[in-house]
Amino acid sequence: MQFYPLTVKDIRRETRDCVSVAFDVPETLADIFSFTQGQYLTLKTHINGQEVRRSYSICTAPDEKDLRVAIKEVENGLFSTFANRNLKTLDVIEVMPPNGHFFTEIHPQNQQSYVFFAAGSGITPVISNIKTILKNEPESYVTLLYGNQKVSTIIFKEEIEALKNIYLGRFQIFNILSREHTESDLLNGRLNEDKIRKFVRFVPSLLHADHFFACGPEDIIFASKNVLTEHGIPEEKIHFELFNAPKNVTKKAMPEAAVESMATIRLDGLTLQVPVEKGQNILDAAQQFGSDMPYACKGGVCCTCRAKLIEGEVEMEANYALTKKEVEDGFILTCQAVPKTKMVKIDFDIK
Ligand code: FES
Repeated sequence: MQFYPLTVKDIRRETRDCVSVAFDVPETLADIFSFTQGQYLTLKTHINGQEVRRSYSICTAPDEKDLRVAIKEVENGLFSTFANRNLKTLDVIEVMPPNGHFFTEIHPQNQQSYVFFAAGSGITPVISNIKTILKNEPESYVTLLYGNQKVSTIIFKEEIEALKNIYLGRFQIFNILSREHTESDLLNGRLNEDKIRKFVRFVPSLLHADHFFACGPEDIIFASKNVLTEHGIPEEKIHFELFNAPKNVTKKAMPEAAVESMATIRLDGLTLQVPVEKGQNILDAAQQFGSDMPYACKGGVCCTCRAKLIEGEVEMEANYALTKKEVEDGFILTCQAVPKTKMVKIDFDIK
């Protein structure tokens, strides 16, 4: 998958430390850049002479015809600081076509109930999903549990309020604030495991939802997953999108069975062979070889480097992005996959 130069069409300040950035998509690239709700874009630029890539979720719904991502400035974040402070309209950024699986199929006949857990900028792919569901499934219901520090840090606050007014009776939202006091105890504090447990006790119908989505840092993902699985919700109903690789996770040691290998890689219709050193992951080997394979986080989180393993065996050092089903179907994260056989064959073109 290649990058395309896209011009920045609009930059909107969403909160003090978050902007949304919209791109101009020329007619000739309209198909390539059409997207599904909840997907993300990988952006690439050079900052101080250094190539920087980051993935950001799309915050619009497909029928808005506005390819827009939200970028929250994070401490020491090279790209996010640049985007919040220096990026201007008409600048050109390299953009990879939309990717990601943080959504379920939309059907106008669906009568489903969806529950979303979001913290901070985790709202980005969530709002894309919510807008799409509410508009295109007129008989479905949506509940959002949204954790923030204060009212002023709530990204898309007005837009969410407006959705609540338009879809009265089908969209309920609970804003949970950790650094500002509200009248309800339930809405004070952090959106953590304890809080989710309290919500489930207070609104037991939440557990009857057809699908659950969680997006944000690890705490919110693990918290919602733990509570839901504790209540017997099957894994296939829980969808998550992690923003950063979990802290406190020690990198796995080199797999014992790691071997020097030859990787045959198919990408964009072309096939190349890349030698992989013992214990090296396939992405690093390909980069060392001079090949430009898709990647962004290199931490097993964003899924940009996903490919299908056709032949041979690998071991992944970390995986925070692929679902159990994808792993069973043979998909791997090439930034984490260390070959265990002398030959491996992978294909980026199979979706
Ligand atoms: S580059 Fe992000 S998961 Fe591999």
